[in-house]
Amino acid sequence: MEKFLNLISKEMADAFEAAGYDRELGKVTVSNRPDLCEYQCNGAMAGAKRYHKAPIMIAGDVAGKLDGSGVFASVEAVKPGFLNLKIREDFLSSYLTQMSKEEKFGLEAPEKPASIILDYGGPNVAKPLHVGHLRSAVIGEAVKRIARYHGENVIGDIHLGDWGLQMGLVITEVSKRQPDLCYFDPSFEGAYPAAAPFTVAELEEIYPTASKKSKADPEYYAEAMDNTHRLQEGDRGLRALWQKIIDVSVADMKKNYANLDVDFDLWWGESTVHDAIPGMVAAMKEKGLAYESNGALVVDVAEETDSKEIPPCIILKSDGAALYTTTDLATISERERLYHPDQIIYITDKRQELHFQQVFRTARKCGLVPEETQLRHIGFGTMNGKDGKPFKTRDGGVMKLSDLISDINDEMRGKIASNPEIGPEEAEKTARQVALAALKYGDLSNQASKDYVFDIERFTSFEGDTGPYILYTIVRIKSILAKYASAEGAKPVKACVIGLAQSKAEKDLMTDLAGFNAMMDNAYCEIAPHRICAYIYQLSNDFNSFYHSTRILAEEDTGRKESWIALLKLTQDILCTCIDVLGFSAPERM
Ligand code: ARG
Repeated sequence: MEKFLNLISKEMADAFEAAGYDRELGKVTVSNRPDLCEYQCNGAMAGAKRYHKAPIMIAGDVAGKLDGSGVFASVEAVKPGFLNLKIREDFLSSYLTQMSKEEKFGLEAPEKPASIILDYGGPNVAKPLHVGHLRSAVIGEAVKRIARYHGENVIGDIHLGDWGLQMGLVITEVSKRQPDLCYFDPSFEGAYPAAAPFTVAELEEIYPTASKKSKADPEYYAEAMDNTHRLQEGDRGLRALWQKIIDVSVADMKKNYANLDVDFDLWWGESTVHDAIPGMVAAMKEKGLAYESNGALVVDVAEETDSKEIPPCIILKSDGAALYTTTDLATISERERLYHPDQIIYITDKRQELHFQQVFRTARKCGLVPEETQLRHIGFGTMNGKDGKPFKTRDGGVMKLSDLISDINDEMRGKIASNPEIGPEEAEKTARQVALAALKYGDLSNQASKDYVFDIERFTSFEGDTGPYILYTIVRIKSILAKYASAEGAKPVKACVIGLAQSKAEKDLMTDLAGFNAMMDNAYCEIAPHRICAYIYQLSNDFNSFYHSTRILAEEDTGRKESWIALLKLTQDILCTCIDVLGFSAPERM
């Protein structure tokens, strides 16, 4: 379906042409003086020089051609040469009626869907999920859903950190505590036990302990390095123990992500591509692109146009070990081999920008992907506490994601439980649902690249630019529609048709709805979930103004009432679609 603004612009372009001017001048924009008009066109101003005419005369000519327009209710040429526009009520309502019938409210499917691999989440095995991983999960999940809604084929990959020194550290610490385990016995040839020798809680304590020890004790560190090396070289016992660490850690991650309503299609990790590394490195050397420098193997990636220095990309360390860049490069290669994607998008902290710049340049230089493949890094800012510093626990430690989630659940539980109509079981479920909306909306409503302040009080408020406010609006609509439907003889909601706007508030609401498909297209193209948040906030505000100024269910004119019911239904459907792509949902009541 043609976008609303495009239809209006087309009508305007026709008028410019009919009056003898270039149709390119007929671009219409949303009014920046809503007190004067709904839309405006500044084309006459731009045309003045070209046609050696006063802009007001051009505007007058164009306005003359729009007499009896099917789109504009009024076209005013005002000095020095603006065209102030108001839309016809019947044009607006028939657009909305059409939208309600179309799949995806008239958002057009792409001609050819793009295949996209989305790399997000990125948790590290054996380390607890912390709030830094929250943003990647929340933003990535929204980006995935937005792209899918838009019609693209997206594969989400978690890209576990499962291959570095942290694995050697955990193995070392386990070997100190339980030296008699069969995993450490080189002569052991039997089958390794099915049960893991630690719980997830133990694992979460083992890693920080090992990390601390390795910093204080060079011998311990050397042992951890050696274990990492032996693991990567394929030591049978260490590989088996490593698998246990993965199993225990991943089972716990799956629970955490399920609570966040985040899920992945692929659970690849850095380890997945281990065997692809030697071949890739050999090819880089053969092409003469990788060379030795201070013992390490590197690829130059600096470009003449760089404004700051981009250091060479290190492919292998001097001891021959692979690094974060190596696994990322081999992963690009494997993704290309298996999926041949049009785009690979990475969602990480923006402090990894240089890393991805080096990785992308190396991938291109070495021909790991075809030229037309897009490699994109979406870097996000830091989640800060109210003091403006990175979010910490009260005693200054790194905040675990599960603790943060239970804090926000507690806050919400208190609010929901105060509603006497809701029993304890429903209250608990609703509290979690609303808390998730608070958390995700609080994050997504900011432009991803910016830092933001995590403020539980503000995020959980039922008023203002918050997730709970949006849910509250949806719940309000649901309740009106349910009341309407339960009245005897009511026409089914689905059969109700949107009529002409009766008030300014109603027209504002309708105009918002008409902008849905353009907004969604834009949110996808710019990879910008915050645009959807801004849209539903305005839509909710305009809906609530309409609601407060209109007695919907008490209306005696049935036609009018049914038209409002249809309008409510469309508002609800669009709000629910938007929150679904953002990654949360609304309860029945709250
Ligand atoms: N595990 C990494 C971290 O915690 C994030 C991984 C992001 N994805 C990637 N392909 N590098 O920082």
